[in-house]
Amino acid sequence: MFILAFVIAYLIGSISFSYLITKKIKKVDIREFGSGNAGATNTLRVLGVGPAVTVLLLDVLKGVVAVLFAMVLNLDSWAVAATGLFAILGHNFPVFYGFKGGKGVATTIGAFVMLMYSPALAAGVFAIILIILTRYVSLGSLIFIIFTPIFSLYVGDNPLSYTYIGLIIALLAIWQHRTNIKRLIRGEENRLGKKTKDI
Ligand code: G3P
Repeated sequence: MFILAFVIAYLIGSISFSYLITKKIKKVDIREFGSGNAGATNTLRVLGVGPAVTVLLLDVLKGVVAVLFAMVLNLDSWAVAATGLFAILGHNFPVFYGFKGGKGVATTIGAFVMLMYSPALAAGVFAIILIILTRYVSLGSLIFIIFTPIFSLYVGDNPLSYTYIGLIIALLAIWQHRTNIKRLIRGEENRLGKKTKDI
């Protein structure tokens, strides 16, 4: 049964709302503009606030729905958390769009809120403050994704399996953000609200 959950979660994750909405409104492939990332932050650059918020909410929903599906199936805690991971893998490497997707932040938010609500809330507040202060969305995203599983060791009462899979999700996010990390180190990362050179 868990294989079915993984496949469905991967397929749900593979629906790229930033790609679809940008294609519909502007008739362009979002992956050729801004940072080249198929995600909410890049939708903000390419289309503006309204479409970006829509993409953010829909991408969050993918993580929520995937984890909820696994919970409804009554899978064990490892499989529930891994189903969230598969939704994120779908978002990052979508089967429908040549395996070139996003960095998985919004879908991770959805999965983490379902799996580790209190730690995600604490890490989320921390990340939002950081984004407001620095205007680096990538930095805030990474802090959120790395700190949620770490906080889950101290806050909330989730099974340890959620923490372990959460740490795998964090490693994946670090890998997906490798170009952002290099730009952050060089002090060249795109700031929210600043003009971004297209890739
Ligand atoms: O949503 C991903 C975010 O952390 C970074 O996006 O487009 O600036 O690479 P971007």
